[in-house]
Amino acid sequence: MLNTKLDTVKRLLSDYQQEHLLQFYAALPTASQEKLLDQIAAIDFEQMASLYRIVVNRQTPINDIAPIQAQDWAAFDENQQALFADKGWEQLRQGKVAAVVVAGGQGSRLGHAGPKGSFDIGLPSHKSLFQLQAERLLNLSRTANQHIPWYIMTSPENHISTISFFRNSNYFGYNLKDIFFFQQSVLPAVDHQGKILLEAKDRISLAPSGNGDCFAALKRSGALDDMQRRGVEWLYYCNVDNALVKVADPAFIGLAAHFNYPAASKTVERAYPEEPIGLFCLSNGRPSVVEYSDAPRELMLSRDEQGTLAYRHGNISIHLFRLDFALQVGNSQLLYHAAHKKLNTIDQKGNPVSPDSPNAYKFELFVFDAFELAEEITVVTTNRQAEFAPVKSRAGADSPATARQMLFELHRSWLLAAGVPAEAVRDRQIEISPLTSYAGEGLSPDLLKRIHDTKVDQL
Ligand code: UTP
Repeated sequence: MLNTKLDTVKRLLSDYQQEHLLQFYAALPTASQEKLLDQIAAIDFEQMASLYRIVVNRQTPINDIAPIQAQDWAAFDENQQALFADKGWEQLRQGKVAAVVVAGGQGSRLGHAGPKGSFDIGLPSHKSLFQLQAERLLNLSRTANQHIPWYIMTSPENHISTISFFRNSNYFGYNLKDIFFFQQSVLPAVDHQGKILLEAKDRISLAPSGNGDCFAALKRSGALDDMQRRGVEWLYYCNVDNALVKVADPAFIGLAAHFNYPAASKTVERAYPEEPIGLFCLSNGRPSVVEYSDAPRELMLSRDEQGTLAYRHGNISIHLFRLDFALQVGNSQLLYHAAHKKLNTIDQKGNPVSPDSPNAYKFELFVFDAFELAEEITVVTTNRQAEFAPVKSRAGADSPATARQMLFELHRSWLLAAGVPAEAVRDRQIEISPLTSYAGEGLSPDLLKRIHDTKVDQL
């Protein structure tokens, strides 16, 4: 039985010049041999060969790029803003909104041992990134008097640990029937010659296939069917690592529903030309994002006649997708991007190697590539200070320290706006629970008095 499998695998490897995958096979225990053969048999070698051609052909073509127009949220007057928010609340009340968080990445820059969503950025409450999102959703559900189903994308690597984290945290008070974990898939990583890498003598190096896999994964897992059954019309999509994300923001939902294009996206002005965030644009006349790692330097630096960045709308991974559009994307094949990364592997003798420079290509789908399937999308500028605190690295820019600081500053601004005297909050780092306030509203005189009278740092 094992021999027949071995013969089949050998033929496959020889057809695709990947024979090195069996170089340690003979010396492995039987259980490991079987495991390795199963992993190899599961690889789509034809797909891997075509993915490697992306590397050889130097990545995604940058075609016919032009700037895109965005709605400026701050330019709408108060009445219009309130109308959009009312429309969004109506959608929430009617149960037409689902939240999707993508939490399947490897978080390699952060270097946290567990799932990225379990990371504690060091707030007084020590709430994890998952808990911050859960409580914002719970606050909205309470006001809307309606459940907001929450779909959490994991990877095979962190699926079990993510579920255990939620279980051990009692699902943060979320209703179990409204939480849905679904797994993205993985793909082998290859070296510079297109050879599939081994992570160990009996293990292929597999990497998650990018956040853009969420559409196919939502479909495969039955989550899209579940949404249809519930009467969902809009999927709110965000990353797990934005500590300030206004999950299922009613005003954003209302704006998207008003224009009713297949998708909507929040954007912030790029802070400086080389900022590592994607650039919203039109590509061949279609809405698109060019990822910073794929963007030619001229595009990043290009300025318009007024001297402002021509491609100033940066992507912060906050989107809304109409359910019919998500279904369409789930049935389409997005294009893969190759990411050049450092991956642990083994040498010719089977000893572990941790490279100092990128030695591998991972293949990933990007969620924003879905935009090109729509003729038009709503892009709306938003306030970076209030909504975008990415936690990407251990220290420096986009780290737990910067995210924490942004949260404290935002919450201080809420307290000041609610009437707390400046001296009561000076030199204090106060955290307001998302269960108390979603975006600065409802800070009652009692709470404000507590801030004034005590030294508490959490509300
Ligand atoms: P990033 O591109 O920042 O990747 O993900 P990452 O895995 O978190 O971190 P690095 O690059 O290894 O340091 C942006 C969002 O997309 C999710 C991440 O969990 C994060 O919420 N993601 C990324 C997935 O869900 N799956 C993937 O395959 C990649």
